[in-house]
Amino acid sequence: MRLQGRVAVVTGGARGIGAAICERYAAEGARVVVADMREGEAEALARSIGRAALAVALDVTDQASIDAMVARVVREAGRIDVLVNNAGVFDLAPLEEITHESYRRVFAVNVEGLLFTLQAVARQMVAQGKGGKIINFASQAGRRGEALVAVYCASKAAVISLTQSTGLALAKHRINVNAIAPGVIDTPMWDQVDALFAKYENLPVGEKKRQVGRAVPYGRMGTPQDMTGMAVFLASADADYIVAQTYNVDGGNWMS
Ligand SMILES: NC(=O)c1ccc[n+]([C@@H]2O[C@H](COP(=O)([O-])OP(=O)(O)OC[C@H]3O[C@@H](n4cnc5c(N)ncnc54)[C@H](O)[C@@H]3O)[C@@H](O)[C@H]2O)c1
Repeated sequence: MRLQGRVAVVTGGARGIGAAICERYAAEGARVVVADMREGEAEALARSIGRAALAVALDVTDQASIDAMVARVVREAGRIDVLVNNAGVFDLAPLEEITHESYRRVFAVNVEGLLFTLQAVARQMVAQGKGGKIINFASQAGRRGEALVAVYCASKAAVISLTQSTGLALAKHRINVNAIAPGVIDTPMWDQVDALFAKYENLPVGEKKRQVGRAVPYGRMGTPQDMTGMAVFLASADADYIVAQTYNVDGGNWMS
């Protein structure tokens, strides 16, 4: 029960990594807010978790939606102690086929949405005056470029940079901002990644997943549950002196 009594908002909490974090946080004693634009899936998850969970509609690309989410959580749960900035989208294309539309969507969710959700929650945490924990989702894709994945990689490099700057800005308020950089995690997002690689690398569906899983030093893709230990640690008092860092949780794919 390392998060006993904490109120934790998880963006993109309806499925994949976010859903696993919601379940684990509730098991650690937190009141979790499943905040997602997939309202039906968010409601279903909150119901299955039980009284410790609340589903709230959220589109991180819409400032009014962010503000409404914060207001509703404060109204219903009294405060916000932890934010997991997990909502994200993926796209890939050869350089000559990248479109403005794809670029705008990836940056609108992964960078702009993450920053302005963090800003709104940080304002609330500063007003509460008791510190807080903010955990951003970066990626191993933010550590180096990939020929087919320029836009997503750049968006995740921006998350690492924003974690550093916002971490420094908020340290004086005892709000710790840190990030997790997952490797290859078997979620609905990776089904989309696999399908796109199948198209551009002319592979059978499922083959890219097999390839990346075999290449992980640990010997397999990660599961959403593999992300939850670090997410609990960074949300707990054990991480009070950790500021502006990005941790790789990737089975050994990247060393830094
Ligand atoms: N799966 C991986 O291998 C992997 C690797 C590195 C980083 N990540 C990052 O981890 C995070 C979670 O990834 P996942 O694999 O669980 O993805 P996923 O696609 O399975 O789930 C993402 C969730 O975010 C939600 N979302 C998307 N846009 C939103 C918006 N505008 N507002 C609110 N919610 C929105 C979706 O509805 C979905 O529930 C993402 O930031 C992703 O970039 C994933």
